[in-house]
Amino acid sequence: MVSGGTDGIGRALGLAYLRRGEQVAIIGRNTAKGDSFLAEADMVGAAGRAHVITADLSLVAGARAAIAAVRERFDRVDALVLGARHVSSHRQVTAEGFELTFALYYLSRFLLSHELADLLDAAPHPVVANVSGPGETRGDPRWDDLNLARGYTLTAALSHGGRLNDLLAVGWGMRHPMARTRYVLVHPGVVATSFSGTYDPRTAAVIDQLRSTGAPVAEAIQPIARLLDDPPVAPVSAWAQGSSLPLTRDAFDPAAARRLYDITMELLQGEK
Ligand SMILES: NC(=O)c1ccc[n+]([C@@H]2O[C@H](COP(=O)([O-])OP(=O)(O)OC[C@H]3O[C@@H](n4cnc5c(N)ncnc54)[C@H](OP(=O)(O)O)[C@@H]3O)[C@@H](O)[C@H]2O)c1
Repeated sequence: MVSGGTDGIGRALGLAYLRRGEQVAIIGRNTAKGDSFLAEADMVGAAGRAHVITADLSLVAGARAAIAAVRERFDRVDALVLGARHVSSHRQVTAEGFELTFALYYLSRFLLSHELADLLDAAPHPVVANVSGPGETRGDPRWDDLNLARGYTLTAALSHGGRLNDLLAVGWGMRHPMARTRYVLVHPGVVATSFSGTYDPRTAAVIDQLRSTGAPVAEAIQPIARLLDDPPVAPVSAWAQGSSLPLTRDAFDPAAARRLYDITMELLQGEK
């Protein structure tokens, strides 16, 4: 199961596992790209094993619809790859009132991780791979401004989202202490992907540069695939391009993880 599987790292992982004979379901919002994934699956002889769930994961309602569709179609999830992301030079607010990066990069991952926990635990060696930027940002999240109403920049939104995902992983481990599922945070390095985003001209030039200098996707997915194939022993772990990162208290603080879980659940109560 791959969120953001219509492009970049998610798409490449999806196709790689289809080539290996697995069932792969991707979640994405773009129907043309979903069709292209199915067409490519056909070409590699994987017709019938490729599935597309269309949903806008920046909406809590969209994430919940995707989760319902997964539950309707599958009775287990062996691996959940969280890769959907869209960044923006300007602060955007979803129809539900959340800042876009917070909603897509963090909230949708929170929902998919927690609400598919039982389907994951039904698999023999289950793993969640949250593809993000572990350990890059330390210190407190903006507890009184999770929606980044003040001082928004693209970089601040991304690093804050990465911070929240680090705490999501720690909190997930605490909420599911008996789970067999391994929760893995993965930093892929700079990879030449679509960099789904809405950019001002100056940032667009930087992104073009990253697109032309980043590692090829086929190369970047290898360390992620190794973690999916052979999940680490530790219930929660963080990795950067194949190397393990220490879960230091300043970045992966359990008290902050618990606080974030509680705040997130309160926010989601309002979206029932
Ligand atoms: N590429 C890098 O250098 C890099 C570096 C560090 C971390 N990462 C992490 O790696 C992960 C994958 O990155 P990538 O570069 O492969 O991504 P990407 O090429 O930008 O693709 C992002 C995916 O997310 C989907 N998406 C965007 N908005 C969505 C929405 N509202 N609902 C559902 N799906 C949506 C995109 O669909 P559309 O095609 O419709 O936009 C696309 O399939 C990200 O989480 C990122 O944080 C990447």
